Amino acid sequence: MPRHVLITGATGKTGASATATLLDHGHRVRALVHRTDGRADRLAAAGAEVVIGDLHDLDAVTRATKGIEAAYLTYPISPGLIEAAATLMLAAEENNVGAIVNMSQISARRDAASDAARQHWIAERVLDHFSGTVTHLRPTFFAEWLISFWDESTSELRLPFADARHAPIAAEDEGRVIAAILENPQPHAGKIYPLYGPVELNHHQIAEAMTRTLGRQVTYVPIGIDEFAAELERHGLAPHFVQHLTSVAVDYRNGIFAGTNDVVRTLTGADPLTVEAFIERNRQFFDGHASSNNP
Ligand SMILES: NC(=O)c1ccc[n+]([C@@H]2O[C@H](COP(=O)([O-])OP(=O)(O)OC[C@H]3O[C@@H](n4cnc5c(N)ncnc54)[C@H](OP(=O)(O)O)[C@@H]3O)[C@@H](O)[C@H]2O)c1
Repeated sequence: MPRHVLITGATGKTGASATATLLDHGHRVRALVHRTDGRADRLAAAGAEVVIGDLHDLDAVTRATKGIEAAYLTYPISPGLIEAAATLMLAAEENNVGAIVNMSQISARRDAASDAARQHWIAERVLDHFSGTVTHLRPTFFAEWLISFWDESTSELRLPFADARHAPIAAEDEGRVIAAILENPQPHAGKIYPLYGPVELNHHQIAEAMTRTLGRQVTYVPIGIDEFAAELERHGLAPHFVQHLTSVAVDYRNGIFAGTNDVVRTLTGADPLTVEAFIERNRQFFDGHASSNNP
């Protein structure tokens, strides 16, 4: 039966993917966007009801949750995550929304060094008080990192990950998981799902997979965490974001992002994309025909 769902962060990576899947499955999607632009226009053209609002604006979020059965919450690595979660939860309570799917991350821990990761953990605990069903998603690093940190001029990935490993997961696969839970939230009530791609690799192996797929040499250049911080700052990234990425780089080296499981296949009936499939699908970014965004 078609459901009426709210997707926040609908112009972002996982929100856009969840929106596309839900529309494809015949559901009504209200897409909360932060501002109008080409991305919002594309959501409307695909059939979403686009509403503009800030996740810190209780009145706007209350309007956005009216008549909604299930909502997806995502918020970028920016200050204000806990407030955004509390605002959505309060609005959802007022409008009898039955379910919230919350984007967290695998490094979410009470004692995480990353401010954002710790805030994710606190937001999860706040959302646990929601009277409807809540499901938390804790993905490892997205495959989209390979786009964000791709250096077109050198074909290098300069990252501070030593030879530790993870199984990159594509936002496309996360969107399918989000859609599956929103379609039928009850079996997922109270669950915390770590989300992974299909194959654990270190970045030398990721670069080899990229080399095979793109047909040109891609090199992983392991760098120090201080050097990584300096590069992020040189690109003008905000202190909160830099603090997060440098802290989770330590986590990554310590194996926090490692692992794989069958959650994507179990919930969606299809295997998640391999690195090779992800690179092939996003070839335009690596051939310099499209611009990237942050991970
Ligand atoms: N990248 C990774 O490797 C990774 C791994 C695990 C977990 N995560 C988690 O994924 C989450 C981000 O999800 P994503 O990558 O799908 O999002 P994203 O691509 O970063 O996009 C964020 C979305 O939120 C919107 N937004 C920003 N501020 C807002 C506000 N105040 N009110 C309403 N909307 C706002 C943005 O709109 P504008 O662009 O118009 O501002 C955009 O649509 C983060 O919580 C992160 O911890 C990421």
